Amino acid sequence: MKTPEARQYPDLKALSEAGAKHICALVRDSLRQRDPVTVVLAGGKTPRLLYRNLASPPHNARMAWFNTHFFWGDERCVPPDHPDSNFGMAYDALLSRVPVPSENVHRIPAEEGTPEEAAEAYERDLRAFFHPSIGQGAAVGPVPEKGELPVFDLILLGLGTDGHTASLFPGDPVLEIEDRWVAPVPNPRGSPPVPRVTLTLPVINRARCVMFLVSGVEKRDVLRLILEEPDRASRVYPAGRIKPEGRLVWFADAGAMP
Ligand code: 6PG
Repeated sequence: MKTPEARQYPDLKALSEAGAKHICALVRDSLRQRDPVTVVLAGGKTPRLLYRNLASPPHNARMAWFNTHFFWGDERCVPPDHPDSNFGMAYDALLSRVPVPSENVHRIPAEEGTPEEAAEAYERDLRAFFHPSIGQGAAVGPVPEKGELPVFDLILLGLGTDGHTASLFPGDPVLEIEDRWVAPVPNPRGSPPVPRVTLTLPVINRARCVMFLVSGVEKRDVLRLILEEPDRASRVYPAGRIKPEGRLVWFADAGAMP
């Protein structure tokens, strides 16, 4: 992992503006290396304003919508039009407002069947995209070697006050999974407390860039431990175990930054 970068902004508004700019630049840079570019969206409330910014001038004109595929880091097991759906939030704030082709949007079908079945379905979708010769999909993805983990260009993540990220919660056995890309979290966790589906740690840690969005003073202590005592944080907080092969960038507002 490269040395983590920490950027502080006065408030969520400034963070969201800088974050949107960063994503546009990253997508453009990535497109010089490969096409399409893969972006994993975060759930929770913090990214909403950033998503709205991406869908608005000047960022919306700078984004390569046709060449970007969107995925999710985790989903709550609710229908896509439910107010708690991570897909629903991103759709309202971003995807419904921009000319992204529907085949570029890969949502987690977390409302279908059990969390286990939903996780298997999403992993099949990812495998078909990243290994089109093996799966049924036709997408011309950035194809890794057969059997390799997928390498996303950008993964956006949030941080919980208990140190969770995506749907990777402290003490959950899902943290130790190494042989799956997507895992079910069947016991209700988080807010809202519902079963969930999440990308696994090995997949997140293969990313070319992970970008955390953190806002609010209630997250400051968690962020302090992660930034100042990373070894200890990696034993206590799932977010402390995010050590991507590529860049790790913390976007935090003044309340959250220690
Ligand atoms: C979810 C998440 C979760 C979220 C954090 C931060 O589905 O709940 O993806 O990991 O990002 O809990 O959430 P807030 O941005 O709402 O504080």
